[in-house]
Formats: sequence, structure tokens, C-alpha cells
Amino acid sequence: MQEGDVQERISVLRALIHHHDEQYFQKAAPEIGDREYDRLMEELKKLEADYPLLAAMAAEAPLAERRAAPPSPTQQVGEGVTEGFEHFTHRQRMYSLDKTYSQGDLATFDERVKKALGLEKVRYGVEPKYDGCAICLTYEGGRLTRAVTRGDGVTGDVVTANVRTIRDLPQEVPGLPKDSSIDFTGEVYIERAEFERINRAQEEAGKETYMNPRNLAAGTLKLLESAEAGKREMKIVLYGLGHVEGVTFATQSELHAKIREWGLPGLTAGWPQMADGMTEAWEMIGKLDVARKNFPFDTDGAVIKLDDIPSREKLGTTSKHPRWAVAYKYETEKALTRLNSITLQIGRTGALTPVAELEPVLLSGSVVARATLHNEDEIARKDIRVGDTVIVEKAGEIIPAVVSVVLEKRPEGSVPFDFAAEVARLGLDAERRGEDARWYLRNEAHPERIAREIEHYASRGAMDIEGLGEAVVQQLVERGLVKTPADLYFLKKEDLVALDKFGEKSAENLLRAIGESRTRELWRIVNALGIPQVGSQTAKDLARRFRSLEALAKADETALISVNGVGETVAQAILSYFARMDKAALVRRLLGECGLAPVPPPEEAPNAALPLSGKTVVLTGTLPTLSREEAKALVEKAGGRTSGSVSRKTDFVLAGEEAGSKLDKARELGIAVVDESWLRQIAGETGQTALF
Ligand code: IVH
Repeated sequence: MQEGDVQERISVLRALIHHHDEQYFQKAAPEIGDREYDRLMEELKKLEADYPLLAAMAAEAPLAERRAAPPSPTQQVGEGVTEGFEHFTHRQRMYSLDKTYSQGDLATFDERVKKALGLEKVRYGVEPKYDGCAICLTYEGGRLTRAVTRGDGVTGDVVTANVRTIRDLPQEVPGLPKDSSIDFTGEVYIERAEFERINRAQEEAGKETYMNPRNLAAGTLKLLESAEAGKREMKIVLYGLGHVEGVTFATQSELHAKIREWGLPGLTAGWPQMADGMTEAWEMIGKLDVARKNFPFDTDGAVIKLDDIPSREKLGTTSKHPRWAVAYKYETEKALTRLNSITLQIGRTGALTPVAELEPVLLSGSVVARATLHNEDEIARKDIRVGDTVIVEKAGEIIPAVVSVVLEKRPEGSVPFDFAAEVARLGLDAERRGEDARWYLRNEAHPERIAREIEHYASRGAMDIEGLGEAVVQQLVERGLVKTPADLYFLKKEDLVALDKFGEKSAENLLRAIGESRTRELWRIVNALGIPQVGSQTAKDLARRFRSLEALAKADETALISVNGVGETVAQAILSYFARMDKAALVRRLLGECGLAPVPPPEEAPNAALPLSGKTVVLTGTLPTLSREEAKALVEKAGGRTSGSVSRKTDFVLAGEEAGSKLDKARELGIAVVDESWLRQIAGETGQTALF
């Protein structure tokens, strides 16, 4: 490479990495997989090491980001902090681990450790490398008082309320000395099954799915509403220490043993495995590679740690990594295959998703023939062309991804993929919208989009109409028999027997199943409508609150927002849905001619034992110590509900500093005005609460 090119490449890599950091850490919406990110980082590190002068001269990051950004991403630890969260400066800096990819790299690490300690052989512990989000928990006198993300290693986001929703994490540890103050470091992660469940729900709600469980864990930790975070099952493992007062540990093994003894979540059973020297550690790394395939969560490597804690002090740290521990990353399985074509898949919302149609290839034990290409920009960035030989990978991600193209194998005369031209070639009336680089159909009447809508309506998590699968829906739509879900209720036996592979019996069964869907639970129809942002969980919350489709359709923003789990974005999506003439007509028709009579959920027996049962509280102004979300949780804990506006139905107005018109209205209506200490008392919380 010429000097100019090197400098240019360094700038490009820095800008790219900053971009992907932001996508990953701040927006929780990564565009590339870990491997690819690591590759960019490795390339940058190598160039910076080989050409230090050019590296110093190269542009640091795009201008807009330069102020906040360090000179190069290679000098930064992780994610940085997020807006909307309180920040906390760690009592001890949180480091990340240096990565190794071969036995040779490990031998070099071992040599360095032995030399620095003047020893012939050292004892290591081998642990799984959990693929989640690093966290630091503070226990003071045995009580969990704070949870902070790693952030940039110095300062992180305070996510205590979200971490408290983790079921396996004790808030009180009686075994810890009263005068102790301990920072435990560990990882918050999400198991694969939970990841799949959440992604299914995201899909149902027409929301973007998470790329992998780690990304989901990071996104969940950073949800601004802890009630929402609590709906997702996070797990946590503790594997290290930060600042410690009042206890001491001689070895890492002792720390792990104590973590278990205290009832804190420790490493997966059977780990760590101790090794006398790096040769033995290598064996353990091999064993872990076998064992990890049966773990219910993702691991992307092994962590090799010096067992003796006092020796760690002697080794110290570099600017980013401790010198006493290292990560070993396992090979991800890759496969080479040909990209036969790129198809555009039409979704229920009318979004066009490009899909790689591959020459089938065996990858991690399953045959892969398709992979998502995300969007137009992603194809352009990787310059993926039809006919290319591509590298497909299945790392932590469940869906295989096209990582890159083998340029040497590119056939002559190949041309870049032209999304707009492909849209035109297919005769689709579509446009690129918004910032998400996605194309959408302008014409809602496209049969494929209708088919997706009907499939969703009939799906198991919605109206659950047995026998109305993909093949049947496609025929019904193609023949023009069904244009909206309402048309299903007018199908006749003659229509059905005319379909492929349909006899009298199956026609009768399907008609019966459609008929039976008239009296499904209310939440099912709410979900089945396919309102953007509304999945089955939100549908259930809405059904519980509004108790009829008519009431939901008429609800205003304030009423919608008062529902647990419904924020402004979701409320807006619901309002826009019912404001559409076609959707309003569909709902009218379903409830009218189609004879739908959805069943509301059983009335919840108000729990009379709780002090605020059946009571509505309106929060206004800034409270002295509780955030709005915390106050809401306390109201709910006491059996009450919160609402956004003051009316005659309001029982209490909880007012803080600078309470405005709501307070005036409360006084006007003669509603009791209360303060934070009242809430704490009534919820059985005094002084420093156990909940927050
Ligand atoms: S020890 C001082 N042990 O991997 C180093 N890290 O960059 C502290 N990780 O930041 C890390 N499993 O988020 C350690 N058993 C384990 C781990 C682990 C996962 C994460 C952690 C760390 C990153 C490496």
C-alpha cells in the first residue's frame, strides 16, 4: 500500500468503527456481526502498529464525532455512556480482555506472565467467556446498592432498576460482612430460548428483531422503563472484582467458591477448570469448546486467568487490558458458497428485505440456503454481487450472515446490485423511506403483502386459525378471494374445494376454524390486526385496560399511555392505525358483518389486601428522590395504577417540585394531594427502600 492509501485506510477504518460502535452501543442496532467488527479492529491495530507516523497524521474520526471520540477506537474500552441514564464513575476502572486466536498467541502470553513473575509455571483458571454485557454490582453491607454498565471503562450507565428485575440475583446477601463494600464484575446475558421468544414477539409486532442475544441483553439493560426490562428474562454471572473493602481473596478459585457460598450467581456448573501451566489450560480450552455447545446461552471463547490474586498486582495492566488474563476466541464455522440470486422479500408492513439465495451449504450442522442481507446500504457496503463466492458465517447469530465476498473469485462482467433497478424489474411500486435504509411498497394491495397480513392474522399467536397456512393463504389471495382479513368470514365451501389439495372435509374444517375465531380472546384480535409496535404482550395489556376493540379504537393518547408498557411511540402507532380509513373500516366490518365477538379478559379481582387497590394516582412534578418510573412501580406495588391526567376518577395526585396545571386541577376538583414520603409509607417502604 502507498503511504497515502495507508493513511486513508486508517481514517476510513476509524470512521467505520466509530459508526459501528454507535450502532451497537448507543442505538443497540448493529449492522455487522462480531467477527467482522473484530476484523476491522484487527486491521486498524495492525496498520497503527506498522505505521505509527501515518496513524498519528490520519484523521481521527468524522468531524461530528471527533470532540467526544478518543484519538482512535483502538484506545477505547467499549461502549461509552447512554443518554437518559445517570452516569457513575467506577471506583476502579473496568478493563476489557486482550484477545488471542491461536495456541501460539497463548504461549506468548504465558511466557510474558512467567517472565514477569520469575516463575517456571503458573496456575491458571479457564472460564467460559459469556457473550453478554459487562456489569459492575456494588454490595454494601450485603445489600445490592448499585449496578453500572462498563461504559468507556471509567464511567458507565447506572442501570440498577433494570438489574433488580433479574430473578436469580439476590438483593441481600446475609453472608457478607456488615462493613464490607464490594464491587463484583460480571456479565448480564440472555439465553438463546428467551432470545428467540423475544424476537418472535418483535416480529409479530412488526418491530426490528435483535441481531443476537448479546445485543438483546445490552438493549434490555438500557431500556428506560424497568417494567419493560422485567418482561425479558435476563441472567447474570459474576466472575470478578473491582473495588473491595472488608473482605479479601487470595485466588480466583476462592472468589468463585465464595460467590457460590453467598448464593450469588456464579459460573456455570463445572467451571472454572484449573490448569497447572498453559499446556493444561489448552486442554481445558478444548474441553470448554465441547461443553459450551450444550450451554443454553452463547459463549464466544474462553477466559484464561492467573489464579493467584497478589501476583496480578505485579503484572498490572496496559491502557486497556489486564496483563494477568486473556481471552481465547473460538473459530466460528464459515462456509464458502455461491450467491445465486438476491430476492426481495415482502413483509406484512410492506417492507422489502433483500435475501441472499445461496447454493445450499453445510454450516454448523445445518444446511444453509438463504441469508438475510438486511438492506440496500448493507449490500452496497459489502459490494455483494450475484454470482459472487461469498463467506457465510453463523457466529452467535442465529440467522446466518453473508460476511464478505471473495473478490478473487468474482466472475468477469459482474455488476453491483442495483436495488432500485431490481424493484423496477419486479414491477414493484416502492420507495426508500426514512433513515432505516429500507424500501417499502407504496401499494398496499400487493398480493404478497396481503398474504403476509393474512398469515399473521391466522397465526398461532394471533387468531389461531388452524388449517390456514401459507399455501392456502397464497391461493386465496391469488384468486382474489381474500383482500383483507374480513373476507375470510365470507368464504364459502365452493371457494375452498376449488383449491389445490382441498377436499370436502378440509374445506369444512377450515370454515369451522374460521368461524370459531369469532369468539377468540380480545388480545388475540388486537394482536392479529398487525398494528405496528403492538405484539402479543402489548395486546394483552391493552385488552386488560380497554376491554373492547371499540374502546381501544376510541382511546386517546393519555389513556393509551396509562397502560403499562405503552410509551409515546406505541401510543402514536395505535392512534395512526385507527386514524386510517381503511383500518377503521376493517375493524367496523369485523365487528359488524363478520360477527366477531371478542372475549375480554376476566375482571381482575381487586386485591383488597393492598392499600391502593382500585385507586388511581396521577404523578406530577419532580419528586425529591424517586424517578417517575420508580414512583410508578411503588404505586403498582401498593396495588394502585397511575394515570397521566387528572379527572374526577383520580384518587390521589402525587406532587413534587414544580407541579403545574395538574396540581391546580386536583385542587379544583378537591382531590387529595400527597407527596413522596406518603407513597413510601403506603407502599411499606421507609428511608432507603429495598426496591430502589
Ligand atoms: S474477566 C479485567 N471473565 O469479556 C478483565 N470477562 O473484553 C475482566 N467476559 O469485558 C473481564 N466472560 O465483558 C471476564 N469469564 C469472564 C468473562 C468475561 C465474558 C466479557 C467481559 C469482558 C469481555 C472481554
